Amino acid sequence: MSSQAHAGSGKVTVPDILSRKSGSFRQKITSITAYDYPTARLLDAAGVDILLVGDSLGMVVLGYDSTLPVTVEDMIHHTRAVRRGTRRALVVTDMPYGSFHVSLDESVRNAVRLVKEGAEAVKVEGGERRIELIARLVEAEIPVMGHVGLTPQSVNALGGFRVQGKTGDAARQVERDARAVEAAGAFAVVLEAVPREVAAAITEQLRVPTIGIGAGPDCDGQVMVFHDLVEYGTEHRPKFARPYGNLSAEISRAAAEYCEDVRSGRFPSDAESYHQVARAPDEIALNSGSDPRRRLP
Ligand code: KIV
Repeated sequence: MSSQAHAGSGKVTVPDILSRKSGSFRQKITSITAYDYPTARLLDAAGVDILLVGDSLGMVVLGYDSTLPVTVEDMIHHTRAVRRGTRRALVVTDMPYGSFHVSLDESVRNAVRLVKEGAEAVKVEGGERRIELIARLVEAEIPVMGHVGLTPQSVNALGGFRVQGKTGDAARQVERDARAVEAAGAFAVVLEAVPREVAAAITEQLRVPTIGIGAGPDCDGQVMVFHDLVEYGTEHRPKFARPYGNLSAEISRAAAEYCEDVRSGRFPSDAESYHQVARAPDEIALNSGSDPRRRLP
């Protein structure tokens, strides 16, 4: 079966994602972040397997300088929009910073809210420290995607957005984290900003798929932030992001051309204007307040 044929088939489920690594039909998993309805529709129709409502929306959509200010309400707002635009892809929503750090009960409550609003699985940042939480969520029938390596919610503890696992000890810690997340019941693990060799070793060890971002080509799938994929309003391109389009240039061009046309009188044209129906001038004056033919189409 060609990759195109598989991309066009039915709804993607959690068991489908698992079977991409261990089933009879093996294929790399594709994931892109999505935060709104039109983007979700386009990405879904293009055959993306997983739409990730990432808390990266705090940075690329809301303009914060980290993901830390993002709230559960923000995630719900964007999850609803993405879910409305999705037919085939699996919708996974990030649990934002603070939503799973206070108590296990509150964490489960927050995850349940995300599921009720359209998430089909949640993503949780962190490794060994999240074993209990992941097990509780799985027990509550909520599929969990793990996320280890560079975890942006730990930016203050890590001292910045830095590659993780570069030395022997650090690499072993990332491996322990990935194994812990799998053992706790996660159905997939995001590996962010780790050396290719470390990601390849983890991918070989785990039964569940690894999904890389800045983790080299040997992972079982790849995820990219939508705004990096299409160069949309981003000021800095990470080394691992490959742009497949340039929306910033296209939006700037369109907006500048529109302003020019409005100022010069070229927009709108007569063809872009409404016209009265042809009637005698005295009839127009008499009936102008009540004639239903004067309603806008
Ligand atoms: O929030 C996000 O977009 C993510 C991806 C970078 C994996 O967590």
